[in-house]
Amino acid sequence: MNVCIIGTGYVGLVTGATLAELGNRVFCVDNNEEKIAILNRGEIPIYEPGLKEMIDTSRRAGRISFTTSIAEGVKDSAIVFIAVSTPPKPDGSADLSAVAAVAREVAENLNGYKVVVDKSTVPVKTGEKVAETIKRYSKEGSEFDVVSNPEFLREGSAIYDTFHPDRIVIGTSSQKAADLLIDLYKPLEAPVIVTDINSAEIIKHAANSFLATKISFANALARICEAAGANVEEVTRGVGLDHRVGDKFLNAGVGYGGSCFPKDVSAFISITEELGYDFRLLKEVERINEEQIDYFFRKIKETLWILEDQKVAVLGLAFKPNTDDMRNAPAIKIIKRLQAEGAKVRAYDPKAMETAREDLPDIEYCSDPYQAAEGAEALVILTEWNEFKEMNLDRMKELLHQPIVIDGRNIYDPERMVELGFTYRSVGR
Ligand code: NAD
Ligand code: UGA
Repeated sequence: MNVCIIGTGYVGLVTGATLAELGNRVFCVDNNEEKIAILNRGEIPIYEPGLKEMIDTSRRAGRISFTTSIAEGVKDSAIVFIAVSTPPKPDGSADLSAVAAVAREVAENLNGYKVVVDKSTVPVKTGEKVAETIKRYSKEGSEFDVVSNPEFLREGSAIYDTFHPDRIVIGTSSQKAADLLIDLYKPLEAPVIVTDINSAEIIKHAANSFLATKISFANALARICEAAGANVEEVTRGVGLDHRVGDKFLNAGVGYGGSCFPKDVSAFISITEELGYDFRLLKEVERINEEQIDYFFRKIKETLWILEDQKVAVLGLAFKPNTDDMRNAPAIKIIKRLQAEGAKVRAYDPKAMETAREDLPDIEYCSDPYQAAEGAEALVILTEWNEFKEMNLDRMKELLHQPIVIDGRNIYDPERMVELGFTYRSVGR
């Protein structure tokens, strides 16, 4: 099948690459000329494991191409995916201007029946607006259907997630459009939910909000465990092994970050408010998440006392491992707090140092964890990269000025750290 994907970011590029891998002819479109130039040079503008290799193979086979022209992408495609950014506005609601602009341009380029699929995360009722827009700006009598097909991939494991989704949600009132998408996704052998468009849109916001709720619940438990002398890992394990709860997304830490949970929780609060419901539960989820940064910063401060001119080594900048994405990374807030109190930050991240420079221009970037640790008063861990779990801790201890580790991701065993001679602080243990 011929497919056009508009927006070649984390979602659009991965979706395009996987659909091409499955044998489809994929036209990827983006209005960022630099991104398209990078892709046309055979490079990849983001870091996502396995993505480059997959795109290289499809490119050689002539199954994938990149352009800035929506007209070119839409012309020969049966399905047009919208996968553009939906960033938060200052009031927390979703900025849908890119979705609207794309819907309009797709409308102006319709030439025969097409299915326009929204893959961007959007508030409920956006599909209705997209359909109205396409109707308004397309030639009279143009045939099209609009589908909501929310994306559930995680950065860092995006390709695996796309090939092995827990479910595929298809929201539409058109059986013809649903059948086309069912056909496109057939090779994935995942459960398919065909539903109405509004329900599909709510499924996406509800799923992310529920996962964020689990994380805030775990972070609240961490605070309680710390006050009670209990261990949050034991507690979440004991709770999570109940199948009705599930053991995933109960890791306490420095709070959830990234381009999605913070934005989608506030967008869901905003849209539910518009619909007349005060989602106080989610407001509390947000509050706990913000508080987790204060709590962790206090932990650093209580350990080091006066931060002025203290060298602090930070390991991990990305909002999670296996990505270079710094959007809403907890590291940004924590490092800025350290700097505001006069600390000198030296940092290392395996993939996110280039992307971090924009938000964190005034830190010393190091070439490995050991260089970052050299002469520092403490080592602060903010992302749980495997590389940090496998470090030589004896060597680390020798390099640090003080053997202090403050671990925001609970990657080490507290007893072992004490045996090794570290002062070790973690979260909820
Ligand atoms: P991104 O910022 O990485 O990519 C979006 C792309 O859209 C950019 O390359 C941008 O240049 C392009 N774009 C913006 N306006 C455009 C326009 N008018 N015409 C053409 N291209 C345009 O964003 P992302 O992380 O891929 O997220 C895209 C959507 O998918 C968002 O709604 C997000 O919430 C959702 N989502 C993201 C993830 C994730 O893990 N990143 C997972 C599921 C859903
Ligand atoms: C998340 C969802 O997991 C995806 O299903 C969804 O498609 C995506 O958002 C989206 O809509 O964009 P992602 O943001 O890539 O994916 O990463 P996650 O693995 O969910 O992590 C999000 C944040 O939560 C990270 O900062 C991570 O460190 C934190 N987290 C996660 C915890 O603090 N504890 C946990 O137990 C799990």
